[in-house]
Amino acid sequence: MHKNLRSGVDPKYHPKRVAAYMDDLVLPIAREYHERLRDSGGGDLMSDYFEPISILSLARSLGLGHVDLETLRRWFFGLALGAINFECDPERQAVADAISTEITGIVTPVMQKLIEKPDDSALSHMLHDDMPEGEVRTIEFVLPTLKVLLLGGMQEPGHGAGSIVAGLLQNPDQLAEVKGDPDALLPRAVDEGLRWVTPIGTQTRQTTQAVEIGGVTIPANQPVAAVLASASHCESRFTDPGRFDIHRNEGSHAAFGFGHHFCAGRWFARQQITSALRYLIDHSPEIALRDDGPVQFRGWEFRAPSALNVTLR
Ligand code: HEM
Repeated sequence: MHKNLRSGVDPKYHPKRVAAYMDDLVLPIAREYHERLRDSGGGDLMSDYFEPISILSLARSLGLGHVDLETLRRWFFGLALGAINFECDPERQAVADAISTEITGIVTPVMQKLIEKPDDSALSHMLHDDMPEGEVRTIEFVLPTLKVLLLGGMQEPGHGAGSIVAGLLQNPDQLAEVKGDPDALLPRAVDEGLRWVTPIGTQTRQTTQAVEIGGVTIPANQPVAAVLASASHCESRFTDPGRFDIHRNEGSHAAFGFGHHFCAGRWFARQQITSALRYLIDHSPEIALRDDGPVQFRGWEFRAPSALNVTLR
């Protein structure tokens, strides 16, 4: 079943496919929001630049470009309330469930049309790809994965981009190096920022049998969280892990998870962030944090700077 789901999701987000369409997808959005920032001398890069790019580019790739930014933003905040409802608070769950019902109502007619008339949207690929002649996946089968995409896929590239910029702005020597050789160093900065502040904190699972880890036995049927943020700071691999350093050569981080459910959107996320950052760097001769103290990070399961107030020319 999982293999079947991934064979619908993967085609649109395969690295070569992504490389072919990413700039066309991201640059018009980057241009529009960057112009607004520049005209007002700066603003909050999180809400005024990275978040719109992250939300709109994923929505357009999915084939939901007709849904407006505020609705999409409301969707992922609502879904997130359910995803991090570890306390099982019924009020928060009710908000998440209402949003989930609203999404089903809006995307079902879109998918019904795509069943009849396929196109190159990710939703269309999710319904049709790798299926026997004349068969499609059902809407009910595709919907839960679509909601995973609408939550993590929509929010986290924006979060990751913010942390990368925070690392660069707080280390001006590294920012200057990236500006001097963006083709070589921007991709390094992207992965170092995702390691430094891992946007999704955990992979949660349930044990199917008793298991011993590090001398401790976890009984069967217990919830377990693999803390990705901690793995990305493991001292056995990373020297001085709290330091942002684009020149690290210490192997890969854990931000995109491990195992069968390894992030399906990792190439899309990396390239979207790279395009958005490249546009920002190339079109902002001067960019600096406003003098309102060190950047504050917030969130446990979803972590990012709470704001990135900058002046920009
Ligand atoms: C920086 C941004 C992102 C980060 C840090 C991230 C991280 C992750 C992680 C840790 C997982 C594993 C979750 C688990 O096993 O419990 C995951 C799964 C997934 N991600 Fe991402 N993600 C990002 C962006 C995206 C984007 C842009 C998309 C869509 C284009 C996407 C689509 C998915 C999907 C579909 C899964 C589930 C895969 C499966 O179950 O086989 N992600 N992601």
